[in-house]
Amino acid sequence: MSIVRRGHILHVSSRATLETAREHLISVEDGALAVDDEGRIAYSGPYSALPHQCRSWAVRDHRPGYLLPGLIDTHIHFPQVHSTGLYVGGQLLDWLDRHIFPTESRFADPNVAADAAWAFCSRRIAVGTTTALVFGSAFPAAQNALFAATHHRGLRMICGRTIQTSGPPTAKKLLTSENEAISLTREEISRWHAKDTGNAATALLHVAITPRFALSVTPKTLAELGDLYHEARGSGVYFQTHFSEDNRPGVGEVDSTKRLFQTDSYLDVYDGKFLPGSRPGGLSFLGPRAVLAHTVHATDAELARIAQTGTAISHCPTSQLFLGSGTMPWRRTVASGATVSLGSDIGGGDEWLLTRVLNDCYKVHMNEQGAAQVALHPAELLYTATVAGAKALCLDERIGSLDSGKEADFLVVRTQDQPWLDELIEKVVPKEHRDLEAEQLLFSLIMGMKEEAISEVYVRGRLVS
Ligand code: GUN
Ligand code: ZN
Repeated sequence: MSIVRRGHILHVSSRATLETAREHLISVEDGALAVDDEGRIAYSGPYSALPHQCRSWAVRDHRPGYLLPGLIDTHIHFPQVHSTGLYVGGQLLDWLDRHIFPTESRFADPNVAADAAWAFCSRRIAVGTTTALVFGSAFPAAQNALFAATHHRGLRMICGRTIQTSGPPTAKKLLTSENEAISLTREEISRWHAKDTGNAATALLHVAITPRFALSVTPKTLAELGDLYHEARGSGVYFQTHFSEDNRPGVGEVDSTKRLFQTDSYLDVYDGKFLPGSRPGGLSFLGPRAVLAHTVHATDAELARIAQTGTAISHCPTSQLFLGSGTMPWRRTVASGATVSLGSDIGGGDEWLLTRVLNDCYKVHMNEQGAAQVALHPAELLYTATVAGAKALCLDERIGSLDSGKEADFLVVRTQDQPWLDELIEKVVPKEHRDLEAEQLLFSLIMGMKEEAISEVYVRGRLVS
């Protein structure tokens, strides 16, 4: 059914780049979002200027609520749905070994996996994550449960089984042979990629080839996954992995990777140059539709190569705080030209709601040292969790903003449903100034909003709450 949604529209237009985000912040206090019966935004702007063809449509009045774009989480782990906030005390590799590998192994039980799949979708809906790029379970039955639940509940998802062909004893149940790693990934692509519509250009479900990280895969696996990716990327299959998160000298992820592969740089392992001395061993994974999570300790040359290839970065500040990884240097990373999107990294990160992750994002970059310090503008923050996510996933023609022509992924936010928030916003930006003080209003929402304020969530015009 075609419908006009009336409320305070707040978004950053898809025309924006990070540099121009503040010029493209759109705030329409008495706004109309006209959504046609295919779930596309037919009109977005002042209610008073609603075009003729939408005037006969039903109107749902959400005022004094806000209409915000659906949030896009470009890095999150399905089998870590219940892993937030557990005290392990160790940094990345210890945490994986002592906690994450054993926990993810429990997804071999189809009942555990089915419950977790439902819970994972419920959490996403509660926090308005309409699109997510997801590290999946090692177990195909768990993946089937997740794709089926996601489809049933109408969410967008790009996901792949997390591939491990090498690892410590605690990862034993997650490992497969090299041959099986390829065949399972191939089967997942044919079973789930664009399964919902049969066409990647219109689908809500996509598959990503997902080696956990360099330390989890052998050179043979990298070579064969590279071949598979090159075969599949034309049909819109994605690639994701972790990159350069933990650089403790000698013992961390970066040094361990360079020592294991004997490459000149960590990135070479993902760039087809994974044989000793960075000799070519296969095809590169880098390029559009490839997303590297973290990228905290990249060298200038690595950042330049990421940008040059059109590879995107998922920045996960909450997780980086929890795991003591340091933070991705904002200015240096965006100066490379790479697209920087936002990830919760559940369960390294303990916060599902991306505006809360933006809250951490603002604070960590305020605390960078000297010339690296930056006070991110509220429009830049919102851009990172919406338009940049869509760009990272090459979905920016379809989603990321409330511009007309986009598929209608949006949230209805009611500040009055969250104790204190309404009063706070009223004091900071009194109602009569809301249109003029869009930046302050958006900042107050980003910094103060909790999931209680998200009252309805829509994907392609359909309610998923
Ligand atoms: N590196 C390899 N695996 C993981 C993981 O599960 N979480 C995080 N944060 N980093 C990783
Ligand atoms: Zn992660």
